[in-house]
Amino acid sequence: VFRASGLTTLPSILLIGPSGSGKTSLLTLFERGTSAAQTHTSQAPISAECHLPVGTLASSNKYRSVNDPTNRAHKKFLLIDTPGHGKLRHHALANITNPQNLKGIIFVVDAATLSAGDEGLRHTADYLHDILLILQKRTESKNKAVKALKEIPILIAANKGDLFTALPASLVKSSLEMEISKVRASRSKGLLDSGIGMEDEGDRDEWLGEVGSTEFRFKQMEEFDVVVEVSGGNVAGGEGAVVDKWWAWISERL
Ligand code: GTP
Ligand code: MG
Repeated sequence: VFRASGLTTLPSILLIGPSGSGKTSLLTLFERGTSAAQTHTSQAPISAECHLPVGTLASSNKYRSVNDPTNRAHKKFLLIDTPGHGKLRHHALANITNPQNLKGIIFVVDAATLSAGDEGLRHTADYLHDILLILQKRTESKNKAVKALKEIPILIAANKGDLFTALPASLVKSSLEMEISKVRASRSKGLLDSGIGMEDEGDRDEWLGEVGSTEFRFKQMEEFDVVVEVSGGNVAGGEGAVVDKWWAWISERL
């Protein structure tokens, strides 16, 4: 088999999420093992070859002997960081609509900006809604690679758990579900007002999750083979990084 580039054959994990949530910090930590002293808001995507830390076993390796040389190769993966700024999100979308051996998406959120009424909550829910809708609609895509994505696991990484204002993962989950319900309702109202999709039920295609439900739940995405999990941690912070759940999630996807 001809391979254009060694990199594209590696399994990849995509980092997306709003600006300032900690994606580049996470990439730096996972690549180097130490967190970055300073990051700047990203203007372009970057990718880094990462290795599972010793002790985490990729699920594809479960039944292989430790001495098997393919073991090491399989523990490598490509982590792709994308800019969160609203005007630069096409980079993240390009990685979804043109996936290269994509094994999962980590949607990084700042758990300290998700309280009711915080504008961070609305921004985060807006972005997440759009990503989930693209994934839900992937079967209609003309792009074979997107269509070929069978299951898409999504980890919502509730970052900045070291901050005292940060919500625990369970609340991050319910707050986002509630806010996405609102986003969904206002988007569909927008479509009705503009007259699009009234007769032909075309607006159904733009409705995220279960048709007819008033409350959005991440579980509704399973119908579309999009499996969402939420778990907490922190990349930075005085007591050191807490990222073991995220590593475990990645290792199960490789
Ligand atoms: P964009 O590139 O703009 O999309 O942002 P980003 O998601 O890449 O955020 P970045 O990694 O640059 O982090 C933004 C800020 O949050 C930086 O000042 C980080 O030091 C800080 N930060 C990241 N993770 C944590 C964390 O777990 N806890 C705390 N307290 N701060 C964090
Ligand atoms: Mg960044």
